[in-house]
Amino acid sequence: MSSIELVPGLAGIPAAESSVSFIDGQAGILEYRGYPIEALSEHSTYEEVAWLLLYGELPSASELAAFNKDLEELRVLPDALVAMIQAFPKTGHPMQALQASLAGLGMVSPKVNIKDADSRDQAARRVIAATPVLVAAFERVRAGKEYVAPKAGLRTAENFLWCLDGEAPDEVAAKTLDCALILHAEHTMNASTFACRVVGSTENDPYTSCSGAVGALFGPLHGGANERVLNQLGTIGDISNVEAWFEGKTERKEKVMGFGHRVYKTKDPRAKNLQILATEMFGKLGNTPKYDVALKLEQVVTEKLGSRGIYPNVDFFSGLVYEKLGLDTDVFTPIFAMARVSGYCSHWCEQMLDNKLFRPAQIYKGEREREYVSIDKR
Ligand code: CMC
Repeated sequence: MSSIELVPGLAGIPAAESSVSFIDGQAGILEYRGYPIEALSEHSTYEEVAWLLLYGELPSASELAAFNKDLEELRVLPDALVAMIQAFPKTGHPMQALQASLAGLGMVSPKVNIKDADSRDQAARRVIAATPVLVAAFERVRAGKEYVAPKAGLRTAENFLWCLDGEAPDEVAAKTLDCALILHAEHTMNASTFACRVVGSTENDPYTSCSGAVGALFGPLHGGANERVLNQLGTIGDISNVEAWFEGKTERKEKVMGFGHRVYKTKDPRAKNLQILATEMFGKLGNTPKYDVALKLEQVVTEKLGSRGIYPNVDFFSGLVYEKLGLDTDVFTPIFAMARVSGYCSHWCEQMLDNKLFRPAQIYKGEREREYVSIDKR
């Protein structure tokens, strides 16, 4: 009998001391470096938030200007990396392409000295700057279009839209996306951030660590839920079908995508903010029938499962926002990733400052001390 007890999914087990972000799952509070996300999404920009996450303080105007200039330069992809993305199979999922592209970014970037603050910093900034360009590049390639290089003078969200379409981005679309990036930038010790820290703990650079994290984010229980939410709303089709659809799900013991969270036992504050963002955008760009289905689904699920702490999470409204921006459903999770890399890199830097290789224990359940049987006797 083992004296250690297994906690499935390491639920509630601290994996690190961190000062990057804070969650209160009962009260529905999320803060980045002590600042509530409501205030950041209302007043800030994604770059300001990325700086805040990396360095712990809001930047001064001159710090932010220099950071933006740096990101602008680090956004430019070397030709070898563009050629690599152009050679990817078009049938691949954009998250698979992103995971490979981040590893590729490491192959074309200066070697990182993890003991040197400037080297760490430069690599973290390169990941934050380049990831949206990597996502947009594969979008173009798989649609059979030419690669569009980033444009000087544009910020992260605007530049992503530019790299997707090769046209000046719409102001409402860029502002909405900027806000969505803020809301997705960081979220304590979730599965992908943990994966990033685990890979980093072997003294790996942020390219490899973020590539590993993107693999973890891809799964349907994590970031992959957002594209499934939209497909789910499409399958339901009409508000009159919601109750019967939910009953069917319950009978088959299937989960409703976009609901539930390991930590939040109330409505995810990011879902609340994304809902506000969605309704503001629908006011400007026109409504979508899927939003009515979403509202009805929220009402039904909350009535049936709210008492068990199951409420909408961040992925419930984000897809509606991205669909309205004209983005492909399977690019929703890469958008989550291109925001979250600022959180990953902040955790990676924190991990490097006080690193200890992750090497948890296991509870062995197998046989022991067996006698080897030669192949002719089996
Ligand atoms: N729909 C129906 N039932 C649910 C749901 C849901 N979305 N979520 C949890 N439950 C039920 C589950 O079936 C289980 O019931 P029972 O005790 O009868 O077997 C109970 O609640 C506990 O579920 P769990 O999966 O063990 O709980 P957890 O704390 O590990 O859940 C979760 C977290 C996110 C994995 C889960 O809520 C889920 O699978 N949700 C759907 C996928 C989703 O929307 N993921 C996005 C998460 S937020 C963004 C992100 O992290 O990327």
